[in-house]
Amino acid sequence: MTLERFCRQYGEQLDPPNLSFPPSTSLLSPSIQSTLYNRLFNDTTVWPQPPIPYQTRVLKTLIARIEEAIADPEEDEITDALLEKWTSLLSHPKPDPLKQAQQLTYISYTAPTPFPGASSPFSSSSQEEDKARTILTSESRGLILASGTTGFRTWEAALHLGTYLSTTAAGSALITGNRVIELGAGTGFVSLFCAKYLGPRRIVATDREPALVDCMVDCAARNEVDATKGGMFEAGIWEWGMPVGVSSSVPAMDNQTNNEEAVFDVALGADLIYDTDLIPLLVSTIDALFTTHKIKQFVISATLRNEDTFQAFLNACEQNGLKTDRIPFESPAPEHQTGFFHSTSIPISIYQITK
Ligand SMILES: C[S@@+](CC[C@H](N)C(=O)[O-])C[C@H]1O[C@@H](n2cnc3c(N)ncnc32)[C@H](O)[C@@H]1O
Repeated sequence: MTLERFCRQYGEQLDPPNLSFPPSTSLLSPSIQSTLYNRLFNDTTVWPQPPIPYQTRVLKTLIARIEEAIADPEEDEITDALLEKWTSLLSHPKPDPLKQAQQLTYISYTAPTPFPGASSPFSSSSQEEDKARTILTSESRGLILASGTTGFRTWEAALHLGTYLSTTAAGSALITGNRVIELGAGTGFVSLFCAKYLGPRRIVATDREPALVDCMVDCAARNEVDATKGGMFEAGIWEWGMPVGVSSSVPAMDNQTNNEEAVFDVALGADLIYDTDLIPLLVSTIDALFTTHKIKQFVISATLRNEDTFQAFLNACEQNGLKTDRIPFESPAPEHQTGFFHSTSIPISIYQITK
């Protein structure tokens, strides 16, 4: 798993200091070097490729580690393919750091392998059966705020929710066969994964930012889940507080009409509680999902950066007659993660909200 884990982490563009490089001794093996070249650096076989500066940083560390491990220069060496790639990376002009931070790239996320002992519909004994479930998004990992939205990267709460949905029976049961809507979906990571692997009857990812919706539509096609081409995924603009459907793919629905298209079973949200000013709007929107769109539960994953902010959200739910229950799920510590890699240094909790 060491090599596989490293390749998955590279695909998710983890910060190089957080990458789990294979042990130096195994790096000396020409076949390991060749596998690394073909899985990470070969222009003709690897897509999507991380930005050039990221590739350069990782290959630099890799070469340094191989050099350190070389005991007998007559016997051990760095393969030509890796050295040629290194020369080619160095020949690229240095990009402007600001432009680079704003540039969106495709990122390939791999779902974690279910943990030993976990009750999961995806447990498997053989590696062959454990076919990697990957999903592509378009984002900039380093971007925190751009064009007034925080949605141009996938946040830890989404990766945590993805881990829950992809590795537990209870998580996948939330999606399979259901009509699902996601609020503030950002890159669409959670909904794209659900659409591709968890068999929803329908899944609609929404956000208020049109550029994010465009990215989600593009990624839906690349992940082959686009509803216009027979898949289950739709994306649309939805600004909380407005009726859904004002400008999204979801038709508007008021209390008088019974529009099946606007009825959902489950709603999802990740990292939506970061600003106390947004709480009244968010809670009234969740309430509308129950009353107007008939959802039976709202599942929200929250990074608990500020206890007061989160408590204000729970209080607002209670005042609106919404019941909140914490789902007892913890992501494994980073050193035990096998996919959807994320930090657990700030606690993340998933809540089920019902009415
Ligand atoms: C911190 S990001 C989380 C994105 C994604 N769920 C994730 O966890 O990676 C918050 C998202 O909520 C969206 N958002 C914030 N306020 C909103 C509003 N009033 N209506 C709709 N979307 C909103 C933002 O555009 C952004 O994509």
